[in-house]
Amino acid sequence: MSVRLKLTLSYAGFLMVAGGLLLTAVWAFILRYVPDTERGLLGVSPNRYLLVRTFFPAAAIVLAFLLVFGLLGGWLLAGRMLAPLTRITDATRIAATGSLSHRIRLEGRNDEFRELADGFDAMLTRLEAHVAAQRRFAANASHELRTPLAISQTLLDVARNDPHRHTGELVERLHAVNVRAIELTEALLLLSRADQRSFSRENVDLSLIAEEATETLLPFAEKHGVTIQTSGDVTLTNGSSALLLQMTMNLLHNAIVHNVAEYGTVQVNTASRRKSVVLTVENTGDKLTAQRVSTLTEPFQCGTERIRGDHAGVGLGLAIVKSITEAHDGTLTLIPRAGGGLCVTVRLPAVGR
Ligand SMILES: Nc1ncnc2c1ncn2[C@@H]1O[C@H](COP(=O)(O)OP(=O)(O)OP(=O)(O)O)[C@@H](O)[C@H]1O
Ligand SMILES: [Mg+2]
Repeated sequence: MSVRLKLTLSYAGFLMVAGGLLLTAVWAFILRYVPDTERGLLGVSPNRYLLVRTFFPAAAIVLAFLLVFGLLGGWLLAGRMLAPLTRITDATRIAATGSLSHRIRLEGRNDEFRELADGFDAMLTRLEAHVAAQRRFAANASHELRTPLAISQTLLDVARNDPHRHTGELVERLHAVNVRAIELTEALLLLSRADQRSFSRENVDLSLIAEEATETLLPFAEKHGVTIQTSGDVTLTNGSSALLLQMTMNLLHNAIVHNVAEYGTVQVNTASRRKSVVLTVENTGDKLTAQRVSTLTEPFQCGTERIRGDHAGVGLGLAIVKSITEAHDGTLTLIPRAGGGLCVTVRLPAVGR
């Protein structure tokens, strides 16, 4: 039975009950004022007999009218009340077929239906953005993975057509392409692992992590003519030390490769606040606009500037940092520095010592 029919029947039912009660009250009222003195046929007074004969048919007509009125009115009213629900149902059906661009956009007062519709619209907007991001990600990932394979293919084709060529160089180049493909695949795996939050947690000192990352990347920084300063006290948080190290390495690596060509500096700092711990990586570099900076954490977003020297990033570094931060219930803030370069702040929940 549809909700509209149920509502109609209850409207009509209530109207009948109310009408019945009213008629009973009227009947009781009349009886009080019509004297029942003379005894007539069957012991009922002629007055009352007349009253019964006129009152009950009239009451039956009134009740029948109320029934029709209740059914018709109830049907129309229920239809009006439930109209928004039909629109919401239609929208759900459309969404279920996979088309997420439709919106209900219910107008009118702020009632329960409007709240439901607005909530549904908001959910659709988020879902649409999420699906679009996923699609973009999959397309970019396959494109990036295809590039090394295509390069290998070209190298092999060239070698096949020219059998007298020196193979040493070919092997070197194939090796380099392969290393890059492996790095990319590992980055993608890391990203999905952080997103799924499938890692074990322990207490980690961020200042130790920062030192370890600095030590590992020091030769790389020297090669780029960049000096690194690391400072900070013991800064405890809870999480995966491997992932947090990866996060710090990515930030430090960025700070080195996206730095100025000569005499660049990087400052790494860890600090404890009352409820959070903060890791900041700050570097000199080209000037960046706030609008440009806001897009950098998207996967496969690379800077517009020419990539210098040996670094050919795919633009997953900051996306991984963001995923790792979020998997640790933290926040990532990127602020362009006034004199050029970037200041990256990672804020994570603190652990009591
Ligand atoms: N510390 C930084 N200073 C200036 N620009 C930066 C910094 N970190 C990131 N960027 C900009 O943000 C872009 C995206 O960084 P991200 O680490 O995600 O990718 P990538 O470094 O290009 O490649 P990779 O995947 O190898 O890390 C960079 O290409 C660069 O333009
Ligand atoms: Mg990077």
